[in-house]
Parts: sequence; structure tokens; C-alpha cells
Amino acid sequence: MKNQLTANELRQKYIDFFVSKGHTQISGASLVPENDPTVLFTTAGMHPLVPYILGAEHPSGKRLTDYQKCIRTGDIEAVGDPHHLTFFEMLGNWSLGDYFKKEAIGFSFEFLTEVLGLDASQLSVTVFAGDSLVPRDEEAASTWESLGIDRERIFFLPREDNWWGPAGETGPCGPDSEMFIDTGRPACGPDCRPGCSCGKYFEIWNDVFMGYKKNADGSYTEMERKCVDTGMGIERTIAILQGKKSVYETEVFTSILAGIEKLSNKHYSDQEESDISFRILADHIRTSVFILGDPKGMAPSNVGQGYILRRLIRRAVRHGHKLGIEGSFLGELAL
Ligand code: SER
Repeated sequence: MKNQLTANELRQKYIDFFVSKGHTQISGASLVPENDPTVLFTTAGMHPLVPYILGAEHPSGKRLTDYQKCIRTGDIEAVGDPHHLTFFEMLGNWSLGDYFKKEAIGFSFEFLTEVLGLDASQLSVTVFAGDSLVPRDEEAASTWESLGIDRERIFFLPREDNWWGPAGETGPCGPDSEMFIDTGRPACGPDCRPGCSCGKYFEIWNDVFMGYKKNADGSYTEMERKCVDTGMGIERTIAILQGKKSVYETEVFTSILAGIEKLSNKHYSDQEESDISFRILADHIRTSVFILGDPKGMAPSNVGQGYILRRLIRRAVRHGHKLGIEGSFLGELAL
């Protein structure tokens, strides 16, 4: 796969495509959620839209698109491997009680094949296998099939894999359908499927069919007005389209890794141990800069978002020292 689309180009193509399909582009929101006291940061593109998914009228209409800054720190210890990021940008399109499953899947397929130029045989998708609460999603599967995805590339997976949300502890959620690029590498075994960590499949997009609301007591209420939430991570998508092994090899990280190389006199991709420190330092500085630069203005502290920021900065300093960088260096790398 070699499509040298940059992050900026992907962002623009996505927004243009959904605007051409009647969506209004809206601005991304702060990294601190307005309406969700259950989490510290905006974890997904849909997060700022929760009140509208739950029924409030959005001033920009029923079809929206944007790119949103997100932070997920749940797997902060995994940062350092080639794929994890604490900060990332998510592209999204939303239907607020307008189109639903068939149209959402149709838009996704059209964007992937006609705008990004992927062949249907390079794609695999997952759909919800069903449980006692929500039935198996045959409609999603047959929609993908009608568009040209072979049945053997459509995987029915359980709630752990194919149910998304809520973004915090409560709120809108529903079964989803995830899209993966199949690298064409051989399967690692009989159970290899999208979601397997062997590197055959890369998830790039998720269509969530928001039909439920999770309540504080853990129960689910079916929503009368169904919505669609989709999310495509920019960094991962360009990495796979560009044929790169890692998000850190894309242009998004070139200058920050070059800065670390200059200060440390070491080369990225020479040794796995120092590469881990390169990646942690690069990721944590990038995330810290976005937290510090957020319109809600946060500073390091002992609590809340400030505590996470302090932890990121401390970890960045520690890994800078591991690379042999001395003195105070974060400011220089943050520029
Ligand atoms: N909310 C879903 C996700 O974050 C789709 O946008 O994956």
C-alpha cells in the first residue's frame, strides 16, 4: 500500500467528502469535555456532541463533520510501542437523527474506495455478533456485502469488540462496525481476524450505530431517535496508507524525532530500547503541548487534568535523561 497522503491532506479530503454529502463542518472542541464529569479529557470525536446525540438540537443541523483533538490515557503504559499515542486527532461524521446504518456504511465504503482509492479486497470489517440485549447485526453485514465486501471478510464479534461507548461512564452507545485494512500478510493462525495483534489487520475507522443510552445504574435505555457516530484516527490511517510500520514514521513526528536526535546524539530506529524512549518522549511532549495550549488553559498540578499533565512531563523528562539528554530540554523540543 503506497498512498503518500499526509495528515493535512487526509483531513481535508475527509471534510470535503462529507460536506459534499450534505454535512456541515463544525469546529473541534476543547480537550476538556463540557458535559461529562466522569472523565478528564475528550476521548472521542463524539464526546462534545453527547447532548445532541441524546436529543438536543444542534445549531448546525443534523449532519455534521469535524476533526477533534482527543486524549486517551487509559493505556499510557503501552505508549512506547510503535502504535500507541496518548494524543491523537479523530475525524468524524455524525447523523443526529438523520441517516442511519445503511447510509453511514455507504458513505464509509465510498470514501475508502473512491476517495482513498482502496480496493474492496484490501478491506475487512467487523459487525456486532449480538447478545441478550441487542440482536446480531445482519443489516450491517448485508449492507457491506451488497457494496462488494466478501462475506469471508465480514467478522461477527462480541460486545467486547463491537460495542462502542459511552465515552465516559454514562451516555449514548451502541453496536458498531469497524473497518480494517488487511495488509495482505498471511494470517498468524486459525483464529487470526481483525483485532488480532499480529499486524495483519489495522483498524482505521469505526461506525457506531448509536441507539442506546447507558444509565448511571448500569442499565441501557433504547433511544427513539437513532444517531450515527463515526471516528477515523488520522495518525494511524496515514501510517497504514503510507505503508509505514508505525505512526512515529509519519511526517507528524518527523520534526520532533529529529529534535530528540539532535539533543541526544542518538538515531531513531537504531536500537529498540532507545526507540521506546524516543517514542515516549515524542508522544508525551506532543500531548503536553496540546494540554497546555488548550483554550481551557491547564497547568501541571496534583489533581485532575493537571495531574495527568504533570505525569506526562515527568515521564518525558525521565526518558529524555535515559537518552542522555541533560539540563532542561523540554521547551526546546516543544517548539
Ligand atoms: N466513538 C467512536 C470511536 O471513538 C467512533 O467515533 O471509535
